[in-house]
Amino acid sequence: MPTVLILGAGSDMAVALARRYAAAGHTIQLAARNPQQLRPLEQDLRIRHRIAATVHAFDALNFESHAAFYQSLPTPPDIVICVFGYLGDQEKGQQDWNEASRIINTNYTGAVSILNIAAESMAARGTGTIIGISSVAGDRGRMSNYLYGSAKAGFTAYLSGLRNRLWHSGVHVMTVEPGFVATQMTEHLTLPPLLTAQPAEVAEDIFKAAENKKNVLYTKWFWRYIMTIIRNIPEPIFKKKKL
Ligand SMILES: NC(=O)c1ccc[n+]([C@@H]2O[C@H](COP(=O)([O-])OP(=O)(O)OC[C@H]3O[C@@H](n4cnc5c(N)ncnc54)[C@H](OP(=O)(O)O)[C@@H]3O)[C@@H](O)[C@H]2O)c1
Repeated sequence: MPTVLILGAGSDMAVALARRYAAAGHTIQLAARNPQQLRPLEQDLRIRHRIAATVHAFDALNFESHAAFYQSLPTPPDIVICVFGYLGDQEKGQQDWNEASRIINTNYTGAVSILNIAAESMAARGTGTIIGISSVAGDRGRMSNYLYGSAKAGFTAYLSGLRNRLWHSGVHVMTVEPGFVATQMTEHLTLPPLLTAQPAEVAEDIFKAAENKKNVLYTKWFWRYIMTIIRNIPEPIFKKKKL
């Protein structure tokens, strides 16, 4: 059975993904800043699904550690899912470079750093799948979250280029664009229930789409159409809205 590496494995979306891939019999490698936090999940996956699971320390912002981290994995993963992200505080980031750079470096630079390494390894083996969790926030910059949105836009473009390059090496790259998802990241926000997905729904969508080698997944599905409308609002009108 294939091995799945989940980066940012403590997040609600990642836990749902770990459960979905474990239910399908995959070996799971869980990686997060605080690996001890992942021990109960690791044990639960092993007992409930009778699969092999391991836990690893990984910090997206410690770029220099990424090559050694990937080398230290018990087996090279067949599927890498980049789940970590940082919404941050837009208004704080407008004045405080530490906050702005943390948003940019977590969502873009850190993801590029680790996926460059996974890409080289998979290209050399001529097989594998890379799944990047980007965001609909990257489809058009808005005043309320353009630091996060621009980092995700960069990540979406990176994944597009990586998909183009790695197709020629037999490696599949899938971009995931969630809309609203009920997780710790959004618990301080009031989200419209009809537009908001649960982490388990997102995990199911991702699992199925990856099996079908989809290139770009919007989840829930209707976000593809919502974002088509939002992208097409003329700029003279868009800039006057408080979005
Ligand atoms: N929730 C939404 O509505 C929504 C919508 C669109 C896209 N997304 C994206 O979906 C992904 C999952 O988000 P979520 O909603 O499940 O959020 P979440 O529960 O807040 O999870 C974010 C995760 O990122 C990890 N992380 C942050 N900085 C890190 C670093 N330097 N190194 C390693 N891990 C780090 C956190 O780890 P710790 O546990 O160590 O803090 C946390 O587990 C993110 O990429 C997010 O941008 C979410």
